This record gives sequence, C-alpha cells and structure tokens, in this order.
Amino acid sequence: MKIIGTGRAYPAKVVTNAMLEEFLATSDEWIRERTGISERRVISSEKLEDMAAEASRLAIEDAGLQPTDIDYIICSNVVNEYVTPGLGCMVQGAIGAKCACVDINVACSGFVYALDMADDRIKSGKAKNILVLAAEEPTRMVDWSDRSTCVLFGDGAGAVVVSEGDGYLSSLLTTVSKRDCLYYERSLEPTPYITKEEYSAPMYMNGREVFKMAVLSSSRSIKKLLKGASLEPTDIKYYVLHQANMRIIEAVANQMGLGMEYFPHNVDYCGNTSSASVALLLDELNRAGKLQKGDKLMISAFGAGFTTGTCLLEWTK
Ligand code: UT7
Repeated sequence: MKIIGTGRAYPAKVVTNAMLEEFLATSDEWIRERTGISERRVISSEKLEDMAAEASRLAIEDAGLQPTDIDYIICSNVVNEYVTPGLGCMVQGAIGAKCACVDINVACSGFVYALDMADDRIKSGKAKNILVLAAEEPTRMVDWSDRSTCVLFGDGAGAVVVSEGDGYLSSLLTTVSKRDCLYYERSLEPTPYITKEEYSAPMYMNGREVFKMAVLSSSRSIKKLLKGASLEPTDIKYYVLHQANMRIIEAVANQMGLGMEYFPHNVDYCGNTSSASVALLLDELNRAGKLQKGDKLMISAFGAGFTTGTCLLEWTK
C-alpha cells in the first residue's frame, strides 16, 4: 500500500484562548503553557458529513482519481449527528463513489487502525484504491463549562487515498481495555423492559493518566518499529504524532533523543481533533511540499480504549 493523495477540511469558526477566557475560569497563559494550544477550529453551522466529503474530494483529486475509482471507504469517527448510517456511507453518496463503506471507532487512534485495515484489504487483492477518512467533532462530546476538557479540542476532517504499492513498511496496534481514564457515555432510548440504570454525561478524562500512558505507549511502539526496521531515530524525516498536547509531543521527542524539528504539529492552531489530527497534518505537510519521495514517516496515535496505533511509512508520491 502507498498513499497517493491527501485532503483536509476545517470548520470556519476559529475560537481563540481569549474567547474562552470570556466564559471560563481559564487563561491564555495556562492553556498555552499546559497544552501548546492557541486556538482551535470549532463546528458552528457546518455538518461534519460535509467537511468529511470535502476532505475526501480533495484527497481523490490529489490522487488524480475519480470518486468511482474508489473501491472501498474506511471512515474513522467517534460521534456525529447520526448513530446510523455510518459517516462513510453518507460521504460515499455525497462524493459520488459507488463502493462498500465501513466506519470504525478506535477513538484518536482510528486513522492508524484504518490505514492498517486498508493495507490488509489491498494485500488480499480485494481493493485497489481505498479512501481512508478521519472526521471528528470532539467539541460536541465535552462539557463547555468544564475548563479541564473543553479547551483541548477542535473539529476537522482529513483523508488520504491509498493504492497498491510498497510505502506501508510496518505497523503496531495495541489495545489495553481501560475505560475509566477516558470515556463518553450516552443513555439509549427507553424501552418498556429496561431495568438497569443508564447515564448520559459529557466526556470524562483523567488528563494526567492519559498523558502518562500516551507518552509511554507511543514511544515504546515507535522504538519497536525502528528496531524492527533496523533504523535509527534520525532516519525518520517526520514523526507525525496524534496532536493532543504539545507537552506529549515534546515528551516523546525527548524519549527519542530528538529535537522538535522532527515533530511537525498543528495542535497549536487546531487543538486536539481526535483521529483526524494525523490525517490533517499529513495533508498539511504534503500540500506544503515538505514530503519528498523516499522520506520515512513514523505515525503514532493514542486514545480512549486505551488504544495505540503506530506505523512506519515511506513517502512514495
Ligand atoms: O486525545 C485524547 C487524549 N487526551 C490527552 O492527550 C490529554 C492528556 N492530558 C493533558 O493534556 C493534560 O493532563 C491536561 C492539559 C488535560 C491537564 O494538564 P495538567 O498539567 O495535567 O493539569 P492538571 O489536570 O493536573 O490540573 C492542574 C490545575 C488544576 O488546579 P488545582 O487542582 O491544581 O488547583 C486544574 O483545576 O489546573 C487546573 N486547570 C485549569 N486551570 C486553568 C485545569 N484546566 C484548566 C484550565 N485553565 N483550562
């Protein structure tokens, strides 16, 4: 498998830290020091499905393909306004593709899990061109009166088109069942038979615990993949990490003994866009001409579950 096209779309509304100071007991200084975030893009009048379709169209165009050339769509998404049908099905109709679609929910690691599924499907000969999409609106999962979570997130959609090739070198996916550190719970419709208690509450996150697990699991996985490929940390052009917090990215850089020039970031102006963050960043790098044929990229994302997805790519476009 290799990546042959990328695309991204953001909501129009930019929410700065100063705007949050207007209704929260927070400060620009606290948010920038603890997270590196200055502003985020937040859904207001847009629908996530439209942003997802826009990112997909751009990725297909960048790949030099038509929507009807896409054989399969894998969409990473945690929430949107529809529980069913899956977001991928809605995007398929919007862009005029005709293929089968599947949605996956692996929280912030979803894009890497989706890439890995795409690699398997291409290897098995069941598909040639796959649209891998990550579209997220985590700003709809948090309590906007809770300063410890709402300042962290932003919305966005990123997409890549992958095709037959040899750019996907290796991967490592891990899951440790650990609900308590990060979850979002919704009660379902009542029935005449339900006797158990159900709860609806905004996202809960134990930030410190997630922070520690993220640094440990991402740096461990990266080291394993480097060792497996007999590569030195400096053989990688860019480490494209899940954009949750600048301090997490810096801690991983520190673990790897590398400077921040190896760690591109967009968390400063996008916030944490869940599984979309890596896809958004890949498109940014691609469109800025920062990726050259033969460059090695290490992608690593982590999130609720607790899940981690890491893969080693060679840019072949
Ligand atoms: O993609 C999903 C994965 N999620 C993450 O990666 C999040 C990982 N965790 C983090 O990024 C950090 O843990 C946070 C940014 C969430 C929090 O930073 P922290 O350095 O761990 O702070 P803390 O939770 O220990 O809180 C320190 C203080 C507390 O006050 P007290 O108890 O010391 O008086 C908080 O109430 O900071 C307070 N605080 C705030 N103050 C101003 C929490 N949020 C804010 C805020 N503004 N927005």
